[in-house]
Amino acid sequence: MSMQQLIYASRPFGYDSSILANILSVARLRNAQNDITGALICRQDIYLQLLEGPEGQVESTFDKISEDDRHIELTLLVRCHVEDRLFPQWAMKHDPARSWMWSPKEIQEGVQFRASAQAVRSIFLRSTDPTEL
Ligand SMILES: Cc1cc2nc3c(=O)[nH]c(=O)nc-3n(C[C@H](O)[C@H](O)[C@H](O)COP(=O)(O)O)c2cc1C
Repeated sequence: MSMQQLIYASRPFGYDSSILANILSVARLRNAQNDITGALICRQDIYLQLLEGPEGQVESTFDKISEDDRHIELTLLVRCHVEDRLFPQWAMKHDPARSWMWSPKEIQEGVQFRASAQAVRSIFLRSTDPTEL
């Protein structure tokens, strides 16, 4: 079955463990209801999120996320159809941003907003590898 996949980058606006826990718990509840899976890579300086599922559900969820004032500079990097989910078991997987992705300086300069679709996809693929730290 063909599904929609979106990946965006943004900058957290107000970030601490309780804000993140709240975002994740609501995301997991809503995504389970909406047949959406995905992953949220984050740190105090970056959100990088992959959403996948039925097109209508993914787009309406993305519309809500776009209007959420807990992040800024939201930039859509990938919008495409895919055959298979990358995160079939995850209503929303939480991964820390890692040092091999981009340096804090690169993120500060906005490298994540200029990344190619292939580059951001490979970040999510690599983050699923348990041997990568
Ligand atoms: C970084 C970030 C990621 C989010 N991810 C999701 C998500 O995957 N699914 C979701 O339903 N809401 C997500 N949200 C929350 C939505 O913006 C919204 O608050 C939530 O869907 C509740 O909307 P509702 O009260 O209209 O149901 C995210 C918010 C932020 C800031």
